[in-house]
Amino acid sequence: MLDVARLRADTPGCAGVIHLNNAGAALQPSVVTDTVVAHLRREEAIGGYEAFAEAADRLAAVYAAVGRLVNVDPERVALVESATAAWDRGLQAIAFSEDFEPGDRFLVSSSEYASNVLPLLQLARRTGGRVEFIPDGPDGTLDVEALGEMLDERVRIVSVNHAPSQNGLLNDVVGVGDTLRIHGSPAWYLVDACQSVGQLPVDMGRIGCDVLSATGRKFLRGPRGTGFLVVSQRMLDDTEPFPVDLHAATWTTEEEYALSPGGRRFESWEKSCALLLGMGAAVEYALACGIGELRERIAFLAERLRAGLREIDGVVVRDRGEVRTGIVTFSAADPAAIVSALRANGINTSFSPPDYARHDFSAHGVTGLVRMSPHAYNTESEIDHTLTTLRSLV
Ligand SMILES: Cc1ncc(COP(=O)(O)O)c(C=O)c1O
Repeated sequence: MLDVARLRADTPGCAGVIHLNNAGAALQPSVVTDTVVAHLRREEAIGGYEAFAEAADRLAAVYAAVGRLVNVDPERVALVESATAAWDRGLQAIAFSEDFEPGDRFLVSSSEYASNVLPLLQLARRTGGRVEFIPDGPDGTLDVEALGEMLDERVRIVSVNHAPSQNGLLNDVVGVGDTLRIHGSPAWYLVDACQSVGQLPVDMGRIGCDVLSATGRKFLRGPRGTGFLVVSQRMLDDTEPFPVDLHAATWTTEEEYALSPGGRRFESWEKSCALLLGMGAAVEYALACGIGELRERIAFLAERLRAGLREIDGVVVRDRGEVRTGIVTFSAADPAAIVSALRANGINTSFSPPDYARHDFSAHGVTGLVRMSPHAYNTESEIDHTLTTLRSLV
């Protein structure tokens, strides 16, 4: 059982604001900020490279913590600056190593985030391939059986989000991995775990994907400017990141180079050691809370919010699926104005515009959403106060 008072005491921001924007960027526990600032102070005192050398063991512990979080060998982890950077580096390696041909098919979940669809549209335009959306099943989440029916040898990439940005649904990413295996699909399987890490168990071993991308600042509660990528053994065996720098590879002779081992070949030399140590502190904090406990509390608060929202005239809750995440979304007359008015009342939420997930928005005739995303440190009374404030606004 989580000690909510303790979580709040650990989170200075709780004192000043009702923060229901954890799917945007969460309030950090002070251990995260302290870790970042302490490293910056060492850089100030002894120099950036020297502080980096001094932190080598603590940085190695960040890979180990991420490995524990998503149940993989830390050697397969790359530390980067965002979920988009993580996903892009996976795709860049695949695109550099494969010969795509006209007629190749790139399948994406219907709720896929724009930044994952846009590069595939670019790739399709350049190669003569095409992007196709995997249909949703009756519960509004990715239809795994329909995916099975779409598969053939021309399907070269399958990209799926675990939890989308703009809906509380949860996709069956394990089912997708199983389906690809059962059909013997040659497709590269990319999973966007940006919104699921920190609020839900994410087990890359069970998912069986080639690329798993995530960010530090959302439900994980790390600093902005952090993220991670985890790659499969197949990615290491059969792809080559492009371009590589002198951290990702070694220039061995005038004309030769050797890729760095493991996930490091997907990284760059220059990185913010302070921020990555901060992300490591956030991962350790989440693991110490217990991902199962976090999941239970976040789901409880999100359901309380949805139940209250359903009682408000003019508000339509849009979350689909039987099992839902901590992302609560609804449409109303002027969602952007609601977000601004809530902000003026000390309540942080966010506005989701249609271009963030164009296919999902059009398929459901939605033009904009209010997103509320509680974390375990939020309280029942914050949820109730938010509902009361909202009632006065719509
Ligand atoms: C589902 C999903 N994927 C990817 C991203 C991109 O994350 P980042 O901004 O860290 O690149 C987001 C950001 O909101 C997201 O919600």
